Amino acid sequence: MALPKIGEPSAVFPVGAAELAGPRPGELNITHACVDRHIAAGQGGSVALRWLGRGTRRRDFSYDELGEMADRMAAVLSRLGVAPGETVAVLLGRGPELYAGALGIWKVGAVFCPLFALLGPGPMKLRLELAKASVLIAGDGLYARTVADQRATLSGLRHVLLVGEDGKAARLSEGCTDLRALLAAADPVGVDTYPTRAGDAAILHFTSGTTGTPKPTVHAHGAVVAQLDTARQVFGITPDDVFWCTADPGWVTCTAYGMVAPLAAGCTVVVEDGEVEPRRWYSILRDEKVTAWYTTPTAIRTLMRSGAALARTFCRNTLRVVASVGEPLNPEAVLWGEKALGVPVRDTWWQTETGAITIANIPDAGRVRNPGSMGRPLPGVEAAVVRREGGGVVAVAVGVGELAIREGGPAMFIGYGDDEARRQACFADGWYLTGDLVRRDADGFYWFLGRADDMLNSGGHQIGPFEVECLLMDHPAVAEAGVVGRPDPLMLEVPVAFVTLNPGFEVGEALMAELLAFARHELGAAMAPCDVHFVAALPKTASGKILRRVLKTYAAGKCKDGQVVELRPGR
Ligand code: PRX
Repeated sequence: MALPKIGEPSAVFPVGAAELAGPRPGELNITHACVDRHIAAGQGGSVALRWLGRGTRRRDFSYDELGEMADRMAAVLSRLGVAPGETVAVLLGRGPELYAGALGIWKVGAVFCPLFALLGPGPMKLRLELAKASVLIAGDGLYARTVADQRATLSGLRHVLLVGEDGKAARLSEGCTDLRALLAAADPVGVDTYPTRAGDAAILHFTSGTTGTPKPTVHAHGAVVAQLDTARQVFGITPDDVFWCTADPGWVTCTAYGMVAPLAAGCTVVVEDGEVEPRRWYSILRDEKVTAWYTTPTAIRTLMRSGAALARTFCRNTLRVVASVGEPLNPEAVLWGEKALGVPVRDTWWQTETGAITIANIPDAGRVRNPGSMGRPLPGVEAAVVRREGGGVVAVAVGVGELAIREGGPAMFIGYGDDEARRQACFADGWYLTGDLVRRDADGFYWFLGRADDMLNSGGHQIGPFEVECLLMDHPAVAEAGVVGRPDPLMLEVPVAFVTLNPGFEVGEALMAELLAFARHELGAAMAPCDVHFVAALPKTASGKILRRVLKTYAAGKCKDGQVVELRPGR
């Protein structure tokens, strides 16, 4: 894909980057920074990955072994003709192949595009097309469930490499190859790292917008500089740490802090593929001697429900730092961390677009100031509260407005695919506009208030209502759909849909069940609405845009009878 460059390395290399630089002047490659340089420095014997598979399966991979796996992967991709700048999509759970895949992709100068496993066939196809992926590396079951039936329509996809999800040889569908067999046959000797520079495209994640298609958000190799730097500032990580990030592959947190930052720091990364389950998670923290842990408020709330006493029975854990991201962290959760885990939970704020943590609440002498606040910008980050005015912005010193981050910095995204106009629309007067509403107090602490737009946040996952609405309208019964978040004590919000029907379809339990099943199958568990409400008409602005804030009030059950007249159930 043709992408804008963000300039020569000198323009984007902050202080400290020299340690990550490639072997020749001007080179920077994430795989070199994360693996090869540790091996060259004689640290190849240290444990890079501690993989905890299902049941009792587990295995440690040293940096030497991980380097060899990356070389084999790079050899396979080169053999298949993958060119620098080409996108390789990866649809895998958290396992060794996810890491080998990403590192091999960066090694050949290609772009790593992780996809979220809980998406259904509709969103998956759209993302593969938007990414212009030429190769897909996938778990065999995930591929069979979400891609296989539409393979013939994905004309740009030249190769599909499958991994057996149960550790066995992959169950191959037509036109697919067994990745493990290719890796075993590949020659890892003499594989060169492509001489990428800091501004070259390396990573593509999808974020959702309130309108339009999902945004293929691209980061450059230079992102590793800020990701390592911020991991040091927030977690204080060194090669002695055991780092565990619970984020799902497909989201920026997994790539930045589940893969790149801790490997660049030379520490041991815990790789675990389960959902939050208190007893298992506490035993991982204790048995693997995790020292730094990055998770979500939803996970913390789940642990809180099982009680501090259970957490304490797993003491003495070795945790030094716990942090969360993705949704507001309530003060009770911060303090519960102190009580149950021995350390407060630090809130951190950032977005896919910023590429690295920008705001964090780092304790002062062990105590978190202002629990409930996201904290203050990290050193080197310039943040502001702004009001949009005309084509520009006006900064507000103290008070409420939109959070803005100064443009530039090595982790800031370099494009939405090659849609330059869409990228530029996020910037004004040298600021990146985040779309989050915040309050800044007199001490410079930032407090999250909500989104300025209609995005939903379900368990830390951003969902664009437009994508869900479009897919619901693919069902023959649905004339129009409006999707909003309903408050949820665990997930923060869950998506709910309001629909009007086409003539000839009957409102009723049977149709509701059919629509819910359709949504779950097509959209996947993470995006499908939990409820469908039938309405006679959707509330709209004069220009015909759906008034989602009215639907939101209705979904939250806060409307008095008759207040939203348009929303009386249809027929
Ligand atoms: O609304 C904010 C919320 O998550 C959004 C970014 O989502 P995404 O691009 O998927 O990246 C998630 C993780 C980096 C933000 O615009 N968000 C993120 N952190 C916080 C938060 N909301 C409240 N408090 C936070 N600490």
